[in-house]
Amino acid sequence: MESSFKYPKDFLWGLATSAGQIEGAATEDGRTPSIWDVFATKPGKIFKGETPTVACDSYHRFDRDLEMLKYIGVNSYRMSISWSRVLPEGTGKLNPLGLDYYKRCFEKLLKANITPNVTLYHWDLPQVLEEKGGWVNRDSIEWFGEYAEKMFREFGDLIPLWTTVNEPIATYVGYALGGFAPGHTNEVWGNQARHNILVAHGKAVEAFREENLKDSKIGVVIDIWKRHAITDSPEDAALVIDEDERNWKFYCDPILAGKYSDYLLDRLTKEGTVMQMKPHDFELTSQTLDFFGLNVYNRVPVSVNAQAKADFSQGGNFLNNRTEYYPDALYEAVKLLHELYDIKIPVYVTENGTYSIGAEKVDENGMVEDDDRIKYVSGFLKSLEKALAEGYDIRGYYLWSLMDNFEWSAGSNFKFGITQLDKETMELKPKKSAYFYKDYINSKK
Ligand code: BGC
Repeated sequence: MESSFKYPKDFLWGLATSAGQIEGAATEDGRTPSIWDVFATKPGKIFKGETPTVACDSYHRFDRDLEMLKYIGVNSYRMSISWSRVLPEGTGKLNPLGLDYYKRCFEKLLKANITPNVTLYHWDLPQVLEEKGGWVNRDSIEWFGEYAEKMFREFGDLIPLWTTVNEPIATYVGYALGGFAPGHTNEVWGNQARHNILVAHGKAVEAFREENLKDSKIGVVIDIWKRHAITDSPEDAALVIDEDERNWKFYCDPILAGKYSDYLLDRLTKEGTVMQMKPHDFELTSQTLDFFGLNVYNRVPVSVNAQAKADFSQGGNFLNNRTEYYPDALYEAVKLLHELYDIKIPVYVTENGTYSIGAEKVDENGMVEDDDRIKYVSGFLKSLEKALAEGYDIRGYYLWSLMDNFEWSAGSNFKFGITQLDKETMELKPKKSAYFYKDYINSKK
């Protein structure tokens, strides 16, 4: 993609992954199961009954991953820590072997001038804590606070960018909708779990400030999927409000505005699903952050009118995976954060990417020809350039993902990688999009 746009100095170009999706080594060196290990063993939960037991085997192959990061030329890597690898009982005693693994990873990244951006919680709660009620139990706030404090103490200044929680919405999907681990379908639990994780996030930020780490910053990662009305009917306008409130605003409001909206509380109260809250909770949720991590994949067109929805999905702008191609989602999400919350902190785009379903098309040399992904990423990069050109303070962009990995319930069926994982040799092979990203980054350095 030809573009003469000049990025700010020190802009971070990254790739992202998470522990539960790539590490494997589920039972090695003292690690205990996470909720995803257990959920995956339940029939019908994951594509073809797959499990994350081996995944990309990154626990044994971090050097392979590092070589690929260097080859592509990124200057940052977003990864996460597996809670049950470092704290097998969830709280209490640290596991030295788990700590060693991460220490080695971080040191190698730093040596290669690749800034680690480390997430504490990317959906993999230790199963031992789920057995005590998981995120529905208010004690989870303390459990997470303890885990966070221990990680800050262990790795402190080694990590320039810390993230507390990745996409708190995953707790709702796991406790209310059943689509994610731990697989409960209880609306009250779902709301309580997502409230507790927001407070737990604040507890971690508080622990971080107490450590007084000079060279580290802390933020949270939230995914914004803005609803758009398909028709201009008042019903569709109302639906947009309702869905925005129940989705990304549920997380952004307490973190960026220190409260839930009256609309949300009123609805949940009427529905009998409102969460139990304490007044101090909001001091915690709204702790000052150093950056906002934005995961942005798409917008969500909505309508109460089934025919309007059907007509919309027959319209033109879709990728082969049938998701809409709407790159302005990035620009609009950044703008919205500023207009609605007047944020004064920098934004990092911590995830953006798209997937192919099933086997991918290869050329005569066996290289995956993922032209759709290139189209998608180029579009979003233009959207990023537009936001930067308008003066929004964005400091980095992370493509999801470094490699095809365990895509949660979709297992290996949805492939988000810009490199392909050969399951036999466990080697990574760049797809066409990896060359595209490599060239793009290089042209911007
Ligand atoms: C999550 C990733 C996931 C990706 C693609 C994000 O919501 O943080 O873990 O793989 O989306 O679905």
